[in-house]
Amino acid sequence: MLEPALRETINVMNAAKEAGVRCVVYTSSVAVVHMDPNRSPDKVVDETCWSDLNYVTSVLDWYCYGKMLAERTVWEMARKKSVDLVTDIPAATIGPLLQPNVNASAVSILRTLNGWKKTCSNSIIGLVPVRDVALAHILVYENPSASGRYLCIESMLHRAEISAMFVEMFPGYPIPTKCSDEVNPRVKPFKFSNQRLRDLGLEFTPVKEALCDTEISLQRKGYLAVLPQLIKDPKIIARF
Ligand SMILES: NC(=O)c1ccc[n+]([C@@H]2O[C@H](COP(=O)([O-])OP(=O)(O)OC[C@H]3O[C@@H](n4cnc5c(N)ncnc54)[C@H](OP(=O)(O)O)[C@@H]3O)[C@@H](O)[C@H]2O)c1
Repeated sequence: MLEPALRETINVMNAAKEAGVRCVVYTSSVAVVHMDPNRSPDKVVDETCWSDLNYVTSVLDWYCYGKMLAERTVWEMARKKSVDLVTDIPAATIGPLLQPNVNASAVSILRTLNGWKKTCSNSIIGLVPVRDVALAHILVYENPSASGRYLCIESMLHRAEISAMFVEMFPGYPIPTKCSDEVNPRVKPFKFSNQRLRDLGLEFTPVKEALCDTEISLQRKGYLAVLPQLIKDPKIIARF
């Protein structure tokens, strides 16, 4: 599975060189920066961070493993071929779905709202609105001074915090509010910096708005029951 994905990456970089494109913007993932069990809890996660490949392998996280190899490969190729490269590093991307099917990040939201999940896992997740991710790609491409890596995260939240936001906005759904692990302390979100993108002019959309837009999009595509009569907040009703 990994080999074709890496081959695609290499093909794209070769094609970019041949076509003489001004700048390649590569979409990485926050999985490539934060999975390091030895990182101090006080460390602010930023563009200098890389996940620990040995750890990622030991926990069998093949998505992260593949994205790590791919980002390393694009950097190596950019250096060898003198291609101008910028990498955009989004967290789980939420907001309206363009495609007809439900992708991995939207499935997690769907499972929170449709009753499939009975409890929240004791875990954290980074989120970013999809329109901000798109804008980040445009900003780094259009700004000639942009270089290196750009961490694209709006919020780092515990799963129970996300559930609480949904309960407030959409009280009609069977949203899990209890944590599956009530014995151990709640996992704390790590600190991160999205300063580099903000310096380029990106003003992040509050994640709650993007969660709301994800729900509306899932309703419109028929993945969720329509319960607008239970929604009281006029700001949310206006988004429909
Ligand atoms: N979704 C997230 O939360 C998230 C977070 C961080 C990073 N990312 C990264 O963002 C990128 C897009 O993720 P996504 O969630 O939007 O995935 P997605 O919904 O599965 O979309 C993947 C897109 O890539 C196209 N594609 C797949 N293989 C291709 C190939 N061999 N040649 C040309 N196009 C190909 C697909 O085309 P078809 O529609 O024609 O199949 C589809 O349009 C990925 O690199 C992912 O790692 C995603």
